[in-house]
Amino acid sequence: MQKTETIWHNGVLKPWEENTTHVLTHTLHYGGGAFEGIRFYKTDKGPAIFQLEAHVQRLIYSSDVLGMKLGFSQGEISDAIVEMVKANGLEAGYIRPISYFGYKELGVSAKGNPVELVIANWPWGKYLPHDMVDIKVSKYKRISPETTVIDAKICGHYIGGILSAIELDGTHYHEALFMDHDGNIAEGAGENFFIVKDKTLYTPSLGHILPGITRATIIEIAQHYGYKVVEQKITLEQALEADEAFFTGTAVEVTPIKSINDEVIGKGVVGEVTEFIKQTYDDVVHGRNEDFIKYLTFV
Ligand SMILES: Cc1ncc(COP(=O)(O)O)c(C=O)c1O
Repeated sequence: MQKTETIWHNGVLKPWEENTTHVLTHTLHYGGGAFEGIRFYKTDKGPAIFQLEAHVQRLIYSSDVLGMKLGFSQGEISDAIVEMVKANGLEAGYIRPISYFGYKELGVSAKGNPVELVIANWPWGKYLPHDMVDIKVSKYKRISPETTVIDAKICGHYIGGILSAIELDGTHYHEALFMDHDGNIAEGAGENFFIVKDKTLYTPSLGHILPGITRATIIEIAQHYGYKVVEQKITLEQALEADEAFFTGTAVEVTPIKSINDEVIGKGVVGEVTEFIKQTYDDVVHGRNEDFIKYLTFV
């Protein structure tokens, strides 16, 4: 990770090196934190943060699920993010806000602990640096809506992603795909999943997945340009018979999928619809598409 100058912590910009935390911090022990991943892009009008408000809203929602009182409003958090991006002077990069329970009590209940809010940023290139990715269904299932609040972006939810990375380590697979507890496709370790069949886009419906902000943007873009989008259960068999498949997410943006479990999807090249969606998304986030300029916050 490439350091920047400052990190925002509970309302104060502090030098990067000074933002340390106690080893008995509650969230470090039990995973009860909430976070976001946001990208900002270089545009003709300077750096622009993509979908800032949606990310801040989700951070507040996820924190709320954990019973955290952040002590900052949505507007104040958005302003803090802009302030920090400005202060660090990068043209493009990744922003990581995180809310967590600090250091005081160490029972499982987080009650009584201070709530910390931190915002950092750093340069971050492509998350899956391949033109197309080969993915594998993980032996681990996606967390279930019966065991947690599935639509919150909570630190502890990522243990499956960590385990899947261990599972794939040393193999030729680039990323894991999780099935849900009913046996349908849920999502990737840090990304949502789409297939294309006969020019229609299909993506798993909400319920077992993180409702990705990129997923919502892609649905909007696709519909705007006349594509039909269907949110429904998708089986592995349906995915293997698709013409095209791709991942979406803040980190991976739009990443075409070449194969699942070594079975090539479609012709094994970036499909026509995926290419259009990927290119349009790239234009949108870089401020080159006036129809979606509403999603950019210029710094
Ligand atoms: C499990 C999971 N699914 C999907 C996504 C994509 O969400 P977004 O598009 O909001 O980044 C992410 C990334 O945050 C994720 O961690």
